[in-house]
Amino acid sequence: MDLRFHGDAKVRMIHKQKIYKEQSLFGRRQGRTLGDMRQSALDDVLPKIKLPESKLKPDHSTNPNEFFDKSHKQYWLEIGFGHGEHVSALMRQNPDTGYLAAEAFVNGMSAFLHDIKDDRLDNIRAIMDDAMIIARSLAPNSLDGIYLLNPDPWHKKRHHKRRIINQKNLDIFAKILKSGGKLIMTSDVENVSEWMCAHASNHPEFIWQAGCKDDWQIPPDDWITTRYEIKGAKGAKKMVYLFFERR
Ligand SMILES: C[S@@+](CC[C@H](N)C(=O)[O-])C[C@H]1O[C@@H](n2cnc3c(N)ncnc32)[C@H](O)[C@@H]1O
Repeated sequence: MDLRFHGDAKVRMIHKQKIYKEQSLFGRRQGRTLGDMRQSALDDVLPKIKLPESKLKPDHSTNPNEFFDKSHKQYWLEIGFGHGEHVSALMRQNPDTGYLAAEAFVNGMSAFLHDIKDDRLDNIRAIMDDAMIIARSLAPNSLDGIYLLNPDPWHKKRHHKRRIINQKNLDIFAKILKSGGKLIMTSDVENVSEWMCAHASNHPEFIWQAGCKDDWQIPPDDWITTRYEIKGAKGAKKMVYLFFERR
């Protein structure tokens, strides 16, 4: 559809929905109704940390420091943070690091916001949407690291195209990560770990850091465990920790 010939809002809306459907990597976005505390966290806290749409253009033009009121020593992105246990622990441990975070599911986002409502909030910025919107907006060589912990497995073969790790997204990660920047991925679904490891290893810009089995089977001493990690996924076997570095 060529929008240059359609001025009206309805056509633009249909077009937007079509793009959304094509690009969407996740399924349902809302589960059970939110309780009052979660709803008020969503109403009060999200506006304080929400990334402005004006800086989320898909043209790799935004430096991560533009998202914060002050500059930070490092900038990291966490994709699909679930209830946010990992990123909330990190933002408290490392006040000098700026964290960008995305979670598409309102129940996870509201739990996270409720948890951090009394924190300083000056080193966390987030969206309740597709994390790739942030990735596509970030300037080349601007990010110190990316966490992708337990991504949705999309078990069925016909759904594999929805997996967030693919050639196109790895190209984007390679572009926005600094040289030596980290791509840290985990999964307890064997097929997903293999998929992520194979795709990243085959990418010319990423180097797998593992030297032996222990490196991908045992987490580092300071590893922050998420609720999901403890619970395990459908078909879960053993947790795999994949540490890659951008050349
Ligand atoms: C299996 S859960 C894991 C949550 C968390 N990372 C953890 O380890 O506890 C995957 C999460 O990723 C979110 N998600 C999937 N694709 C996403 C995307 N493209 N952008 C943002 N969130 C996404 C889902 O809503 C879901 O909460």
